[in-house]
Amino acid sequence: MHFEEATYKPTDRHRARILTMDASQQQSMNLPVIDLDVYLNKPRDSPEVQQECAKAANALITYGALVLHDSRVADKDNDTFLDLLEDYFAQPEEELRKDERPELSYQIGVTLENTEKPKCAVDEPCLDVIKRLDPSQRPLDITGHQPDPKCRFFWRMADPPPYETQFPGLNAPNVTPAAEHIKERWAPTMNQWGTCMKNAVSKLSEMTAVGLGLPAEYFSDAGRYGPHLLAPTASDLVKYGQKDTILAGFHTDLNFLTIHGRSRYPGLNIWARNTGDRIAVKIPPGNHLLVQAGKQLEYATGGLIKAGFHEVTVNEKTVETIEKRKRDCPDRPLVRISSTLFWHLNSDFDLAPVPALAERAQQVRTEQAKLGRDEGAVPSYPPVKVGHQVEG
Ligand SMILES: [Fe+2]
Repeated sequence: MHFEEATYKPTDRHRARILTMDASQQQSMNLPVIDLDVYLNKPRDSPEVQQECAKAANALITYGALVLHDSRVADKDNDTFLDLLEDYFAQPEEELRKDERPELSYQIGVTLENTEKPKCAVDEPCLDVIKRLDPSQRPLDITGHQPDPKCRFFWRMADPPPYETQFPGLNAPNVTPAAEHIKERWAPTMNQWGTCMKNAVSKLSEMTAVGLGLPAEYFSDAGRYGPHLLAPTASDLVKYGQKDTILAGFHTDLNFLTIHGRSRYPGLNIWARNTGDRIAVKIPPGNHLLVQAGKQLEYATGGLIKAGFHEVTVNEKTVETIEKRKRDCPDRPLVRISSTLFWHLNSDFDLAPVPALAERAQQVRTEQAKLGRDEGAVPSYPPVKVGHQVEG
């Protein structure tokens, strides 16, 4: 908590907020850990699987995020990936520029820093979300609308649909960097780590469906031919390593679920839907991934699960980690890599709330209102093709 002891007097809203937190949350703001191994190894109708799936769905309803444990995901694959991306983004700018594809609207290849702007800064409903947060829990100020000082690489991880699609999208091949020390290991490393995360998140979509009372493959079939993207970001911590620098401004993701491997530097904050509290994310070492809900999942559940707001900033812990990394690995580039994969539903999928879930969404809103938590205007989710939702 960020209240000054002497001046803090709880208002009704604070009291309501505190009432909605159970004891374990007050002690530690760590997210629930969902075990994918249980789902993969036990019969689907067993009580263990049903319980773990309910836990996954509830974590997404409450926090919009969870930590996923998957034994198939090896720490060393994440390390190999992070090493490669650090080496890549440590190259001179003129080398990186060769991998830009402005003619394809940067949908593949590299996007250099200060290009992506946080949309929230000019988006009324999003600014309203910030206004309704307790001042102590608000994100770093994005109203200056500066572009994010982060670079990104888009590597497509999609299978072409075996049916005729209304959204043919890009047919251009992925970009492989030319530098000798990178090109050989690029595709194998990107595909190895990308496939790990894609398999994990696709299975989690099954657990979520089961936990919500839907057929297990409801979401995974709907995302089988989605335009999934491995989209690591890189922040130069030599240039942008000062405390309170915004590396990625407050926003939600427009895809279905976003999955991340563990970053070498802390700095990711997420907001819990039940309390409006900011949570500094800690992913435990060894076979763990972080998953966040995106807009497509919010849409499909009629707002029962909400797309999770998040930001990446340089905080005290980030600065400490930078100093430690300088001491431990003096020869390595000081770059914060976030290994993000955006998992999408198929572009041709008809997105609309499942009626039973929309009903539950309404109940959750009412319960939140009783606890003094204002969720803002009732959002509407008119039916739309996923491809149009993404374009919009
Ligand atoms: Fe994001």
